[in-house]
Amino acid sequence: MNRNFRTVVFARPEISKADRKAVDRVLKSGWITTGSVCARFEAEFRQRLNVPFAFAVNSATAGLHLALESLGIGNQDAVVIPSLTFAATAEAVLYCGARPILADVDPKTLTLSISSLKQAIERHGNRIKAVIPVHYGGRPCEMNEIAAICAPLDIKIIEDAAHSFPGTYNDCFQGTIGDAGVYSFYATKTLTTGEGGMIVTRNPQAAAFIEKARLHGIDRPVWNRYTSPDAPPTYDIVCRGYKYNLTDMAAALGLSQLKRADDMRNRRKRIAEIYQNEFSGLPGVGLLPFDERSSFHLYVVRIKDGRRNAVYKKMKENGVCCSIHYRPLHLMTFYQTAADGNSADLPATTAAYGEILSLPLFSSMSRKDLKYVVAVFKETLYNEFK
Ligand SMILES: Cc1ncc(COP(=O)(O)O)c(C=O)c1O
Repeated sequence: MNRNFRTVVFARPEISKADRKAVDRVLKSGWITTGSVCARFEAEFRQRLNVPFAFAVNSATAGLHLALESLGIGNQDAVVIPSLTFAATAEAVLYCGARPILADVDPKTLTLSISSLKQAIERHGNRIKAVIPVHYGGRPCEMNEIAAICAPLDIKIIEDAAHSFPGTYNDCFQGTIGDAGVYSFYATKTLTTGEGGMIVTRNPQAAAFIEKARLHGIDRPVWNRYTSPDAPPTYDIVCRGYKYNLTDMAAALGLSQLKRADDMRNRRKRIAEIYQNEFSGLPGVGLLPFDERSSFHLYVVRIKDGRRNAVYKKMKENGVCCSIHYRPLHLMTFYQTAADGNSADLPATTAAYGEILSLPLFSSMSRKDLKYVVAVFKETLYNEFK
């Protein structure tokens, strides 16, 4: 290829001067673990999403676990999740002693297939106590249909909104529709705290459990024990708890990023629009439908004729780092026995796995990087499919 070689990373967090100042203020304050900044992050998140309860945690994995446990999911229960997801979705189910039931995805959108969800419920009956729809890449699942199936059967809905913020569905945020929703602030996400997450719910009983269980089951806020004259000297432990709290250092970064979340999402959207326009009609590539409601966490294309790995390799040779979201759980060694679901039951997921490729997408991506990725991708496809 006759152009100047560049390296384009797959994802890079956007850390502004204001972000650094906010974290520095916490570092200088003398209180770096969970405290007032974390409380402010939760309050602003709650307001922004218009939900009564939001709890910061140290990962979405922890958040999914707490959300499931808060809704009563436990031993002998079964939980439907898509096979096309990150291991965390299944792990959270296993932490509760429940069994993941792997469902297929819609071949067009790669979000949870409604017919596959219905089949899982028919097959496993009232063992199914919850479903975790994953808003794949920030594209919303068909939440109205999922709710219509689950509500009469009292199947709880925990939205895996790890990719979602600030993507929408109808007139609200993804993650605020089910019984609980869980966001990830991992390093590559649309809003990052390095590692971190947020659980939202409208259910007061679930909220009361989550608030305590995320920090050892302690019955009252203890972060203000040295600074508040009214803080009691001791505490009680009222439930089994975990060490899932978020630090104030991380929360400061999250609070600062929250201010420009829409702007960061709009820049991701612009990049996705350019990809979509540039790649429509290219040989050998299938595009997912453009969805205005997405958070644009991922831009996923499908490469035909078994050439995905060859395209991945060519892109890498030319300095462009791509990724694959995901190798499905039913094709992972551990989950062949730790979950229910196989290739025969999951044809759309299995077919997608051979074709999906995620291209670089991050809010701070430069015009030069974008132009370069477009050029390398087009040339690679013309070469592969000539
Ligand atoms: C779909 C999905 N669910 C859950 C998680 C877990 O998020 P975290 O890394 O914050 O635990 C991820 C992480 O990337 C994810 O992609």
